[in-house]
Amino acid sequence: MGIEEQLTTVLAKAVIEADKAESVKELETIRVSYLGKKGEITSVLKGVKDVAPEQRPVIGKKANEVRDELTTLLSHKKERLEKEALERQLEKETIDVTLPGKQVSKGQTHVLTQIMEEIEDLFLGMGYQIIEGNEVESDHYNFERVNLPQNHPARDMQDTFYITPDVLLRTHTSPIQARTLESHDFSKGPLKMISPGKVYRRDTDDATHSHQFHQIEGMVIAENITMADLKGTLELLAKKMFGEDREIRLRPSYFPFTEPSVEVDVSCFKCGGTGCNVCKGTGWIEILGAGMTHPNVLEMSGVDSTKYSGFAFGLGPDRIAMLKYGVDDIRNFYLNDQRFLKQFKRKG
Ligand code: DAH
Repeated sequence: MGIEEQLTTVLAKAVIEADKAESVKELETIRVSYLGKKGEITSVLKGVKDVAPEQRPVIGKKANEVRDELTTLLSHKKERLEKEALERQLEKETIDVTLPGKQVSKGQTHVLTQIMEEIEDLFLGMGYQIIEGNEVESDHYNFERVNLPQNHPARDMQDTFYITPDVLLRTHTSPIQARTLESHDFSKGPLKMISPGKVYRRDTDDATHSHQFHQIEGMVIAENITMADLKGTLELLAKKMFGEDREIRLRPSYFPFTEPSVEVDVSCFKCGGTGCNVCKGTGWIEILGAGMTHPNVLEMSGVDSTKYSGFAFGLGPDRIAMLKYGVDDIRNFYLNDQRFLKQFKRKG
């Protein structure tokens, strides 16, 4: 058989094989077996050296044609196979967006966090800063600097967990008063802050006592701050927490860091003041302690008490939540029982 016919036969064979190929990989093997260095077409062309010289250009032309035809055929077939493979893959990976999705359950903030954030929002709106204190505090700041020197009888009510004789878990958020006062630059304006956080006491836990609970401390110090400012501020707070119709009343009390000191009652949000089980028939509910900052507290922090004055207050978000939602055991807040916590969905 002459070389030309051999080329035609090899091409025919290659076309049949390419036609049967089902993958790009198979096509590549076919390409190599015909057009590669050791491929069939290449080896047929090796016989050219035995052909008469005038015949060679004809065979050369034919060889080029055969090679071009096979190359084109293989590349078309490759394109088609790739397209088919892509279509199959797309089909397989089709997503039915109408199928129901996996339920991701949405968390929510703890009821005490909700109360604290609500109070933070109110005070932020009035230009207060929010300051975080240290839960591990020194005896110096926890007691001395808020006018509770060693052996002061009021210390008895606030026994706590000691890390060393001078380092303890704070019993109240009041130490933040001293810490803020000593670092505040009064030439830049008044001091207005609230400070929420956890506090600790050596208590036997029962329905109304927990060794860990929360407080929010508040303080305003500037020139010419009076008790009227304190009353107005706390009235706003009471209305925000218990409803627009609430009123407050101040009763004389004692705290070492304020003079005068007051206990603050809010008119009962359940009966409106006529007397019921929530207010134990009195029409009033005690919600916090407050007063005008004692000059000793100011002076110990290097603030001139003849020029500056102000007020402080301390309230317990746990107690507020218990009153507001009728929770009868403070321990519920710390048990992490979802059935309890899920009842308190934040509004809006
Ligand atoms: N530190 C007080 C306590 O834990 C609460 C308190 C009362 C804070 C009156 C104040 C205040 O700032 O003026 O019992």
